[in-house]
Amino acid sequence: MCGIVGYVGPRPATSIVVNGLQRLEYRGYDSAGIAVLHEDRIHVRRDAGKLSNLIALLAQQPIDGNLALGHTRWATHGRPSQQNAHPHSDASGEIVVVQNGIVENYRELRESLQAEGIEFRSETDTEVIVHLLALNYSAAGGLAEAVRKTMGHLKGPSAIVAMTSREPDRLVAARLGNAGGVAIGLGDGETFVASDIPAILEHTRRMVFLEDGQVALITRDGVQVETLAGQAVKPEIHLIPWDPISAAKGEFRHFMQKEIFEQARSVTDTIRGRVDFDAGEVVLGQLNLSPERARSFNRIVIVACGTSAYAGLVGKFLLEAIARIPTEVDYGSEFRYRDPIIDEQTLLLAITQSGETVDTLAAMEEGRNKGAFVVSIVNSIGSQAARVSDGVITMHCGPEIGVASTKAFTTSVVDQYLLALALAQARDSIGPAHRRRLLNDLAHLPRLIGQVLDPNDNALYLDLAERFHGYRNFLFLGRGINYPIALEGALKLKEISYIHAEGYPAGEMKHGPIALIDREMPVVAIAVQDSVYDKMISQIEQVKARSGIVIAVASEGDEFIASKADHVITVPSAPPLLTPVLSVLPLQRLAYEIAVWRGADVDQPRNLAKSVTVE
Ligand code: M6R
Repeated sequence: MCGIVGYVGPRPATSIVVNGLQRLEYRGYDSAGIAVLHEDRIHVRRDAGKLSNLIALLAQQPIDGNLALGHTRWATHGRPSQQNAHPHSDASGEIVVVQNGIVENYRELRESLQAEGIEFRSETDTEVIVHLLALNYSAAGGLAEAVRKTMGHLKGPSAIVAMTSREPDRLVAARLGNAGGVAIGLGDGETFVASDIPAILEHTRRMVFLEDGQVALITRDGVQVETLAGQAVKPEIHLIPWDPISAAKGEFRHFMQKEIFEQARSVTDTIRGRVDFDAGEVVLGQLNLSPERARSFNRIVIVACGTSAYAGLVGKFLLEAIARIPTEVDYGSEFRYRDPIIDEQTLLLAITQSGETVDTLAAMEEGRNKGAFVVSIVNSIGSQAARVSDGVITMHCGPEIGVASTKAFTTSVVDQYLLALALAQARDSIGPAHRRRLLNDLAHLPRLIGQVLDPNDNALYLDLAERFHGYRNFLFLGRGINYPIALEGALKLKEISYIHAEGYPAGEMKHGPIALIDREMPVVAIAVQDSVYDKMISQIEQVKARSGIVIAVASEGDEFIASKADHVITVPSAPPLLTPVLSVLPLQRLAYEIAVWRGADVDQPRNLAKSVTVE
């Protein structure tokens, strides 16, 4: 969850590392720090709080050099403070390390190091790593070897980068378990390392990704990769297709706002090149699924967390309706704790924007060990989820920086629609004419998304934000394929505005939550014209009969609902299976404007991180 950036090369390193950290701050913003090699000595600057505090500190105490290492922290062990901020140094100050992950056995390690007389200066688990490095260094004969030895003592997922003033030409990175990515960017006479691609994308698109159990020796000439056992590995160089502009905020106030308004384009990119509209066929290049294997599945199990899990709940409807395969959805964090029934006839579908969510990765591993065919829908190229899957469907939505997921939700729903069609094709569950119709529906989707995301409509959202930003509780109701949208709408509101919100299946309201309805509990009802429209109208009536306030998301031209609800946001009519992609958009916009009105930190909401790489 923390962010790491490192640089070795001829240019002044501090600004490269700090700029990179700015692009990774979504990963953690409890503290930040940098270590720079200057005139044979390592100088560390670090501070609690956001990166801006470190930048202010660097303005007062500038430091620069050609080798540097930076970190932005999401606290696990030890409160957010200057002392607990990374980089951590050994007693001599000659070795420093930054880490993303958890040292699960840090207590034992700390006690045994203390028994040897080593003094600890922080409450973090990471500090044990640097002391181990120092102990191993002389015996090992170099930083890379010391890192290899040290990693052998650690339990739990961990990605580290270390440097020492004794070897001023290198950084050494290592990765153990599902600790999140380590991307090494290859420049011209300079090399970069980072936890995530956007941090270094402005410098290079040529990247190498470290696997579990690998160590990388990074110099300005490139990278050498070895296993923890010291065996050389030929690094595979990936060319990243994203452009640096797509990782920048541009004229938008927040990344989340930019990403909301990008969705017509990201859905277009997700469809592009994968569909033969005339033949009614879908080609998913990296799915690696033979028609025989596709025909062998008797169920699909979707595993994911947060917004991705809600996309999976929509996917259940799509996969069952189109491919006719029974589908269930489980949280990655729950899945492996109940001995799930999985076998070779199971298609295990993981959805993860980051490709790093540790719970989703663990669920994938569980599925794989039980013989399932594992497919991931993932946005981050080269991520762990993509690497450990039998087949991959990429989201094609470009970097998503805002902590609140938006465009990854809609593109992963579209990916599931495509997967359902690909499976239907292989299994003959629906004929070509039907497939052509469904693909034709999809072709119109970007245009409809563009209509919902008309910036000229903003007055409506601003008005709603002004009226509702002071409320403390919201209820979101949906039914059928739009029930997951109620969950997603509630999640968006709570995570960025800190207003309590609950998503509920509308038909269940009368079994309990109706007791909550009063003037203080606005109800957002998704009531587009689909097969459960009449039922939704009844539920709105029930809320109104109890003096509730209703904000309805309704189909364009629905005059009737305007007489029932207090406020109406319209979306164009769409084929039933695609309505969630449209109905989620107003809820993203509403949550965004309410959060902005409340002065919340939209892109970096408190306590959260973009990639959840710890359990
Ligand atoms: O990267 P992933 O899709 O695996 O992330 C899953 C969740 O952590 C993520 O969707 C989270 O719930 C977002 N903050 C929601 O906006």
